Amino acid sequence: MIVAAPRLYSTYVGKKYAMAVSGIVLMLYVLGHMIGNLKIYLGAADLDAYADWLRTVGEPALPRAALLWIVRLALIAAFAIHIHSAYALTRANRKARVPYASQREWIAADFASRTMRWTGVIVGLFVIFHLLDLTWGPANPDFHHGDPYHNVIESFQRVPVALVYVAANVALAIHLYHGAWSLTQSMGWVFAYRRQLAIAYAVIIGVGNVSFPLAVMTGIVG
Ligand code: HEM
Repeated sequence: MIVAAPRLYSTYVGKKYAMAVSGIVLMLYVLGHMIGNLKIYLGAADLDAYADWLRTVGEPALPRAALLWIVRLALIAAFAIHIHSAYALTRANRKARVPYASQREWIAADFASRTMRWTGVIVGLFVIFHLLDLTWGPANPDFHHGDPYHNVIESFQRVPVALVYVAANVALAIHLYHGAWSLTQSMGWVFAYRRQLAIAYAVIIGVGNVSFPLAVMTGIVG
């Protein structure tokens, strides 16, 4: 199977699968990350203890942060595959201009793929800023290693930055909605309530993530 993977990836359908599978990995991360971040509502001790647990989980069987690095490497791989397949599929679609049954269908498909491109670029730029802000620190006004609660509050107390987080997470929710819906098509998972499931997933992530900057801006947290 592993030997056949590059050959499958060289095909249009293979790239669709690659995009769907890498999308699922990223979707699971985004869900886990949002649920973990809900600890912000429990206070500094809980969020910071959770962040510490992310580094110690797997000890003593594994060295410190080993599992965290496995997740990070999987994320980097998924991100790279997702972007490469998106780029390659866009180019292939432009060349082929796949014929649709009706003009309306074509306009709808074109609108969805343009939306995916734009929201995808916004989310990509957001992730770079987010890492500089809350993981590495140079974009944070007062970054303390090992104290994510403090870093989140410091970051979101800057209103323009909080608004950037809100806007980027709305873009992410739109991206997740279209992505969750179209991955069921790509994978051939045809079941009832597919659209509702995609909407529910996107709304849960969107509401959860947008709530964090809003909670700090309004003083509910901090
Ligand atoms: C308002 C929403 C969000 C908040 C409050 C938030 C908060 C945080 C915090 C505090 C960290 C540092 C964790 C630590 O050092 O232990 C972090 C890391 C990270 N976040 Fe977010 N995040 C948000 C949204 C997102 C979104 C939407 C994505 C992806 C699309 C994302 C991707 C990441 C990644 C990749 C890391 C680095 C994880 C690592 O390898 O250590 N975050 N986030």
